[in-house]
Amino acid sequence: MTAIAWLIGAAVGVLAGLGIAAVFRRRALRDFDHALEALAALAAGRTPERFYAPYGGLAEREQAFNQALQEIADRLAALELDRVRFLAIVGNLRSGVVLLDSRRRVQVINPAAERIFGVWAPEVEQTYHLAMTHTYALESALDRVERGEVVQAERREGGRVLQIDLAPVPGTGGTLLVVHDVSEERRLLEVRSQFVANVSHELRTPLTVLGGFAETLLEEDVDEGHRRRFLRHIAEETRRLSLLVDDLLRLAAIESGRERPERQELDLLEIARAVAERYGAEAASRGVALGVEGGAARTVSDRDRIEAILISLIDNAVKYTQVGGHVTVLVGRSGPAAELTVQDDGPGIPAADLPHIFERFYRVDRSRQRATGGSGLGLAIARHLALSIGAELHVESEVGQGSRFRLRLPGMDASADA
Ligand SMILES: Nc1ncnc2c1ncn2[C@@H]1O[C@H](COP(=O)(O)OP(=O)(O)OP(=O)(O)O)[C@@H](O)[C@H]1O
Ligand SMILES: [Mg+2]
Repeated sequence: MTAIAWLIGAAVGVLAGLGIAAVFRRRALRDFDHALEALAALAAGRTPERFYAPYGGLAEREQAFNQALQEIADRLAALELDRVRFLAIVGNLRSGVVLLDSRRRVQVINPAAERIFGVWAPEVEQTYHLAMTHTYALESALDRVERGEVVQAERREGGRVLQIDLAPVPGTGGTLLVVHDVSEERRLLEVRSQFVANVSHELRTPLTVLGGFAETLLEEDVDEGHRRRFLRHIAEETRRLSLLVDDLLRLAAIESGRERPERQELDLLEIARAVAERYGAEAASRGVALGVEGGAARTVSDRDRIEAILISLIDNAVKYTQVGGHVTVLVGRSGPAAELTVQDDGPGIPAADLPHIFERFYRVDRSRQRATGGSGLGLAIARHLALSIGAELHVESEVGQGSRFRLRLPGMDASADA
């Protein structure tokens, strides 16, 4: 009996124990589910709700768990902030940035690199870099980067030059490419060295002439008549040299943008008349009729610069037009713009030369120009001056039909809006 009672007692005890264990287990599982929910929210990028363990399973560890949860959430937020900052920096860089993985596939490409390579990021991401860069020189450069070197590669294509800096990304086996379009820099270098060559050439010719006359005068017995002629040549060449130097200095000053243009209200018709009057005697001595036509046109601009442009255009028109020719300065308005046009019935400019005549030292017919003595800087300066006052200078010309140079300035109404 006691044995049976003991057995029953034991069985009841075991069952009760199991029941209690089952209850605890279910509670612990529920706590665990709450913990999982909190982690899942974190993984999905949401801020997890505060973990709450009322059932006992994790109750005593609730605080530690919540603290860990908060730390992870803070770290993720910091990482996200870094990512946003990284994208803002890389996205706004003017240089192209491309990140390649260890298998040389594109991982990241910024908008500047998209523009430079003419691609759309989603199309090239995860593809082999050559599909985008088309630069076979990069292959050997990447080999060297993988050996830990920092390398520079270049891609030339048409008139475009890309400079690509490559650097290994430590710990990833990837490579960072920084791409610059240096076409414009290279072109400017080219222009500059061309310019120096041209200037040297322009200076050498008169200097040779000067040297020759001076030596002759020093070393030979020269009669009075020749002596005077040589001295006249020396004076003439010296004058041309100093005009050339003046032009060069002027060009340098305009280009540097050191002097800001004036802004005053101007009457273009009055300016055209004043300049034509000053130039009248010169035109007459060359047998060219110079006149001004048109109506009122006003602008807000720099008088000296407009006069300098006009003088250069009138000087050309008179200089290149044959005896008996006509040069007319037309003043007027065209829509919101004010226009000054210098028109002649001279020889005109061949179509092949037309795109070049605003370049420095460009002369259509070098042999003919020797006689008229131009250096080919006049129109280059005129166009620079026009740009500096926000104006446009264009030319229309046809051989045998004369030439027409048009200066378009912002009209009074337009500049009043500005
Ligand atoms: N109205 C024109 N008619 C025909 N050819 C012109 C006319 N204006 C300019 N050209 C051509 O364009 C070239 C460039 O003109 P630009 O004024 O720059 O130089 P330039 O007159 O030769 O020298 P500079 O003006 O420096 O004394 C001239 O050499 C000339 O061949
Ligand atoms: Mg000229």
